[in-house]
Order: sequence, then C-alpha cells, then structure tokens
Amino acid sequence: MSDNDRRAKLLRAMEYRRIFDDRLGRIERETPFDSLHDVDTASNVELWELPESDRLQIGRDARYSPSPVRTVLNALRHCDVDHEEVTFVDVGSGKGRVLLLATEFPFRRIVGVEASETLCDIARSNVEKASETREGCDRIDVVHADATTFDVPDDAGLLYFYEPFSVDVSSAVLERVEDSIRRNPRRVVLCFTGRGQPDGQASERETPPVAASAAETRPQWKRIGTVSSPDAEFYDSFLYENVNVDHGSPEA
Ligand SMILES: C[S@@+](CC[C@H](N)C(=O)[O-])C[C@H]1O[C@@H](n2cnc3c(N)ncnc32)[C@H](O)[C@@H]1O
Repeated sequence: MSDNDRRAKLLRAMEYRRIFDDRLGRIERETPFDSLHDVDTASNVELWELPESDRLQIGRDARYSPSPVRTVLNALRHCDVDHEEVTFVDVGSGKGRVLLLATEFPFRRIVGVEASETLCDIARSNVEKASETREGCDRIDVVHADATTFDVPDDAGLLYFYEPFSVDVSSAVLERVEDSIRRNPRRVVLCFTGRGQPDGQASERETPPVAASAAETRPQWKRIGTVSSPDAEFYDSFLYENVNVDHGSPEA
C-alpha cells in the first residue's frame, strides 16, 4: 500500500470514529444509564491505553464501547429462548453494561467474558454498585478470559456479541460454542449487534456485523432474523441458531 493510500485509510478511520462517537454520544444523552445506577459503563476505552495492553492479544485499534441500552433490551426481547433454562453469555463484556441489562430477563445465570483485567475490575465494581438498585445482579459472573479459549458453559443458550472481534477470532469463539453443543446438544441462539467496518471502508448500510460473518460462513449456523435497533441502524442485531438441533448433532 502506498503512503497516500495509507493516509487516506487513516483519514477514513478517523472520520468513522468521529461519526460513531457523535452518534453514541447522542444516544447516551437520550438514555442515561450510568447516573441512574451509579455505574461507569458509558465512556469508551481505547485498549492500547490500558496498563495490560502489551499482553492483550487484541487488535491494536480495538476499543471498549458500550451497546446502547434500548438496543440491548430490544434485541434480547426478540431472542426466543427459555430464560430460566439457560445461561446468557456476553462475549467481550467490557464494563458489564449488557450483563446488568440482562438481569431484566430471568436467565439462570449471566456470564461476561472479557480479555482485559482492568475492564473486568470495572465491571465487577459496576455489578456491586448496581446490586443496590437492581434485582438479579447475584446471577452475574464476570470472567477474565480470552473468549477464543474460554470454555462456554454447557447450558449457555444465548450469546451476545457486540462487534468485539475479527472474523478469525469470532470463528474461534464459535468453535468453542460448537464444542459446548457437542458436549450437551441443545439449541443455542447467537445475537450479533452492530454494523460497520472499524476502518471505515464500507458503507454501514451494506455491511453486516464483522463478527457475524463467522456464523454466515459456518454451516452449523443459520440466520433466523434481524432485529432493528430503536437507536440507529448501525446497532441492528442479527440472530442465528444452530442447525439440526432436533438430532442432537449440530454438525450432521
Ligand atoms: C465493543 S466492546 C463491547 C462491550 C459489551 N459487550 C457491550 O456491548 O456493552 C468489545 C469488548 O470485547 C473485548 N474483547 C475483544 N477481544 C476479546 C477476546 N478475544 N476475548 C475477550 N474479550 C475480548 C474488548 O476488550 C471490549 O471490552
């Protein structure tokens, strides 16, 4: 790539971030969450700023950014699962906002997997503070782990992904989900939220979530629906379930 191309790509990425941050800022002002629960989930964190950044096997431009509140609640409402029978997993749980929102549903357990220790500490502190005003926080576990090697609980029935990963990393995570289904054959729903390319090269309207392309290309998964976000088209969610669950063999 020439210097000019590199510069143009960088400028596109900066413009993308500006649009993204403006949009998120507007949504956060419309639906305040942190002040209601005395928590810290709204502010973005660039992962390279974290003290453990050298040890994180995550893309250099990766960041923590929260899913908007209405988007998450609306997407989870559209996921048809037996809440009492399943564990909910937020893959790349960051500061834990989605975990807190998931307490509004009667999931058996609510698990967040997060590669950054600093973000896990913030999430745990958020859970503790929120437990004073929200029921169900005692069902939450924040696990410090790389999602690509994390053993997915064998009762996980709904996994939420908000654009945390590249396609390669998402495929590795889906392999872990498929391992778990082999151990305990069952129906599993995946919810991928967020459209768009972090490098700003594609029009948002045309772009499916990066992480969801892993499910699109693996024969074990089929798309079962799309949920429009009440916040912005960028935050639409794409739902998948494993195929051939009736036979107890997702790979048959
Ligand atoms: C865009 S944030 C989403 C946070 C949260 N799920 C939400 O929707 O509010 C993505 C998170 O994924 C985490 N992450 C990225 N790669 C990861 C990996 N391999 N294993 C675990 N967490 C990872 C990042 O540290 C970041 O906190």
